[in-house]
Amino acid sequence: MSQDLQQRIAELSAELHQHNYLYHVRNEPAITDAVYDRLFRELQDLEAKHPEYARADSPTQRVGSDLSGDFPKVRHPAPILSLSNAFDEADLVNWEERNRRLLPADAKLRYVLQPKLDGLAIVITYENGVLTRAATRGNGEFGDDVTANVRTIRSAPLRIPVDSNGIAAPERLVARGEILFHKDAFLELNREQAAQGLPAYVNARNTASGSLKQKDSRETAKRKLTAYIYGIVDSDGVDLATEWETLQYLGDMGFNVIPDAALCRDLADVKGRLSSWEAKRDDLPFEIDGLVLKVDSQAHARELGVVGKDPRGAIAYKFPAEEAATGLIGVTIGVGRTGKITPTAQLEPVFIGGVTVSNASLHNYEQVAALDIRFGDRVIVKRSGDVIPYVIGPVPGARNGSETAILLPGTCPFCDTKLIQPAGAVDWFCPNRNCPERVMRALEFFVSRGAMDIEGMGPKTIGALIDNDLIEDEADIFFLETEPLLALEGFAEKKVENLLASIEGAKARPFEQVLTSLGIDGIGSTVAGLLVQNFASIQDLLNTSGEIQAANEAFARAVEPLLAHEPSGDADIRKLLIRLRRPLTDLVPRYLDGAKLNERLNRLLKPLGFSAEQVGFIEDSLSRLITASRPLHSIEGLGPVLVENVAAWFTDEHNRAVLEKMKSAGVNMRAEEKVVSSSALADQTFVLTGAMSVPRGEVKALVEANGGKVTSSVSKKTSYVVAGDSPGSKVDKAISNKVPVISEEELHKLISG
Ligand code: IVH
Repeated sequence: MSQDLQQRIAELSAELHQHNYLYHVRNEPAITDAVYDRLFRELQDLEAKHPEYARADSPTQRVGSDLSGDFPKVRHPAPILSLSNAFDEADLVNWEERNRRLLPADAKLRYVLQPKLDGLAIVITYENGVLTRAATRGNGEFGDDVTANVRTIRSAPLRIPVDSNGIAAPERLVARGEILFHKDAFLELNREQAAQGLPAYVNARNTASGSLKQKDSRETAKRKLTAYIYGIVDSDGVDLATEWETLQYLGDMGFNVIPDAALCRDLADVKGRLSSWEAKRDDLPFEIDGLVLKVDSQAHARELGVVGKDPRGAIAYKFPAEEAATGLIGVTIGVGRTGKITPTAQLEPVFIGGVTVSNASLHNYEQVAALDIRFGDRVIVKRSGDVIPYVIGPVPGARNGSETAILLPGTCPFCDTKLIQPAGAVDWFCPNRNCPERVMRALEFFVSRGAMDIEGMGPKTIGALIDNDLIEDEADIFFLETEPLLALEGFAEKKVENLLASIEGAKARPFEQVLTSLGIDGIGSTVAGLLVQNFASIQDLLNTSGEIQAANEAFARAVEPLLAHEPSGDADIRKLLIRLRRPLTDLVPRYLDGAKLNERLNRLLKPLGFSAEQVGFIEDSLSRLITASRPLHSIEGLGPVLVENVAAWFTDEHNRAVLEKMKSAGVNMRAEEKVVSSSALADQTFVLTGAMSVPRGEVKALVEANGGKVTSSVSKKTSYVVAGDSPGSKVDKAISNKVPVISEEELHKLISG
C-alpha cells in the first residue's frame, strides 16, 4: 500500500513538472487547466495525508516558472504568491471554516470578490511615482525583466499619480496585476493577420505572453495589450488596513484597476453573487477563468499566513472549464464560397461549459500539421462564448501508437478537382468555380442578411432553383419569373409573390451591401465599407482593377527574362525572386510613396547583378503598377493580400459577366451621396437586431445620416439596441449591460427630437 502511494506521488510529481514546463516555458500546454488542477489537488491531498512521502522537489512546493532565458532576471521584493483553487461552494465553506479556526473567535470576515483575469501576472515597480521596472512572475522569486516591453502598454502608467492633482505618489510601490488581450483587440489582431494572409492566433493568453516576451519592444508595441492592477506586493510609504482600501488607493493613483470588484459582508453575500458572475462571463471584454476571493482585513490576511505558495487569506473560485479533452474520431472537409478548404474535427461528444460539443474547427491543414493532430488522438477542445468550438491541440502523452496522420486530400471531395495552395497562402482551395458546393455556398452568402438580404431564399429554395436549372449564378436570381417558379414543388402563389417582391427590393440595396454580397475573399461588410468610402461605383473598381492587371502583366513581362536565373542556393536571392514574381503584395507596399525609387531598387536588386538599364526598365514598370494600385493600397485597413483579392476578383471574366448581368437587371452599383441630414444622433452608437419594417441597411443609413454609428455587437459603450421582430440574443446582452432597448418607432422619435 505505502509502495503504491509513494509510486503515485512520484508519478504525479513527474507529470506535473512536465506540464509546468510545457505551460510556463514552452507556452504549449498539453492538458487543460482543469485537468492540471485535478492532478495538483490529488498530489496535495496525498502529501497532506502522508507528509512522510512528500518530496522536497514536489511541484506543490514551488510556483511554476515562466522564465525564458531571453531576459535579465530580477529578484522580486517579496514572493509572488499564487492561489489555491475552489471548484464549488462547499470548497469555499471549507476554506472559511479552516480560516476561522486560525483566527480569533469574534473575527468578522468580510471579503473582496473580483474577476480572475486569464492573462499573465506582472509586477511593476514605481519609484517616486516613476515606472522603473516591470517583471514577469517567473518562478515567484525571480522574474524576467520586461520593463521596455511593459512601457509600450498604454494602460500601464509610466508615472503615478496619473492625475497630477491626485494624491502624492509613495516613495516606492511594487504593484501586481495581469496583462492580457481584450477580446476585441485579439479579434482585431487576427483580422490583421488574415488581411496579411497569415494564420490566426489561437489562444489569447499564450499570444499575450508571447507578445510581452518579444526581444524587440517595437513588436510588443504593435500588439494592443492591456494591463490591469489588483494589488500591492511591497511598498515604502503605503499603509492600508484593508484590501478594499487598497483597490480604492490604486484607483486614485490612476491605475487601470481590476473592474467590478465588490466588497461582500460575509460568505453568504459572496455565494449570492457567484451565479450572476458566471452568467455575465461571456459578455465581459476580457477572458476570465473564475473569481478571486480575498479576506478584506490585511491584519487577518497576515495572521492567516501562507501555505506552500498560496496565501490562506485568498482563494480562486474556478468556473467550470471551457476546455475539455476528448477523442478525435474523424475529420470532415468543408468547401467555402471562395473554394477555401476547412477541416472540422468530429469528436466523441463532450460536455463543455454546459453544452455538448461533437465537432470543432481545426482551422486549416497547415495548423493541423503544425500542431501534429492525428486521427485517434485525444485533443483539447475550447468553447467560449459565441466562438465556434475549436481544437487547441493534441495530448501527445495519451497516444498509444495507433494514431494516424491527417492528410490533406489531393482533390475536392465535391467535384474531384485537384486542390491548389496559392503562393504564400496558408489555406488550400478548390479552384473549380463550378464546384457544386462552392456555388451553393456563394449563393447562400449572396442572399444572406448583411449581403443582398433576400427573404424566403433559404438553402432549400436555392437547391431547388439550381436543380431545376432556374439559376446558375447570383445574377440569375434577378431574372426569375413567376411561371417557372409556380411549377416547382411546394411553391404556392403567395410564396412566389413574396419571393419575387423580396428579390425586387434587393436591387436597391446600398452599395456596401452589394459589394459584400459578391463574396470576395476577405471582404466582409467592414472592408466593403472601406471600399465604398474610396470608390463611388462598381465601374470605378472595375477600372482600377483593370489598370492594375495591365500593369501587373507588363511588370511580369519586364522581369520574366531577367528571372531566367538558375535556381539559387542563396536564401536572400530566392526571397528576392519571389518578390519580383509577386510585385503587388511584396513590392508595391514598400515603395508606395514612390520616393527615390531608382536608388532603392538599385540597392534591392544588387545581389542579382542587373545592369543599370535593366533596373531602369523594372523601375518604369513598377512605377506604373504603383500608380495603378495606389487607390487600393492607400486604404488604411486593407492589407496587400486583400488588395490583390479585390483586383483579381474584378478582372476575372466570369465575375465581370455576372456583374454586367446584375447591372442590366437594375441592381444598384453606386454609392449614395452621403447626405448628413442632422446631428441628432451624434456620438451615439446603435446595434440593430431582428427584422425591421425596411431592410436593415436602410435603418443603418438613416442612423448614419443623422450622425450616429452602427456596430454589430453590444457592449457597455452601446447607446441603444434597436430591436425589430424576433430579435436575437443581443437584446439579452443589452439588458445585462443596462443598454436601453428601443423600437424602430422610438428611433425615429430620437431623430425628430
Ligand atoms: S490575487 C496573493 N487577483 O491568478 C494573491 N490574482 O491562480 C495573488 N490572477 O498568480 C493573486 N486575476 O496571476 C489575484 N484578481 C486577481 C487575479 C489574479 C488573475 C492570477 C494571478 C495569480 C493567478 C493565481
